[in-house]
Amino acid sequence: MSTNVTQTNTPVPTTGEPEQTRRFTLAALTAALDALTVAPTQSELDALLRRLELDPEELRPHLGFKPNTYTRHRIFRSELCEMLVLCWLPGHRTAIHDHNGSYGAIRICEGAMEEEIFAMNEAGEVVSAETHARAAGEVTGTDVPDIHRIGNADGNVERMITIHVYAPPLRVINTYQLGSAEVGECWPDDPANPANG
Ligand SMILES: [Fe+2]
Repeated sequence: MSTNVTQTNTPVPTTGEPEQTRRFTLAALTAALDALTVAPTQSELDALLRRLELDPEELRPHLGFKPNTYTRHRIFRSELCEMLVLCWLPGHRTAIHDHNGSYGAIRICEGAMEEEIFAMNEAGEVVSAETHARAAGEVTGTDVPDIHRIGNADGNVERMITIHVYAPPLRVINTYQLGSAEVGECWPDDPANPANG
């Protein structure tokens, strides 16, 4: 038995919809984060980023690339959360790190993201657990606890642009080395961090 399925690319109207399904411009998403009165959960951050319908023109003022490192561009910060745009050329990736208690969600806006997930063995050494390829449009969450490394893989030829939301905003985070039990510290906002500015 056949069924009639009508597919349409008509934009979803932004009025008269349930609050949970309304689509966001970047400005509207920023306003929604600014309106939060309680800390969002990881799943709420994930849901907010999934509702983003990005206009490239909105993103343009927040873009900037460096040859030797990915770059961080903050869009919004409050006591409860922060949102940043990160720009990556092929081969750029983070250190292995956690988020020290912050929840996070990442929306891949352009390009393809490689995410490596790590675990600790019985000796407390960091070992590789999983690797995922994330395509443009996908949203991935970083739960607590988590240890990961993300980047624009060496084999990619395109630039990558990602939007990150963290709650609470990142302060000092822990960094790790593969096969080691040593834990380091990193302040992502440090002006000396070459990814900033
Ligand atoms: Fe991360």
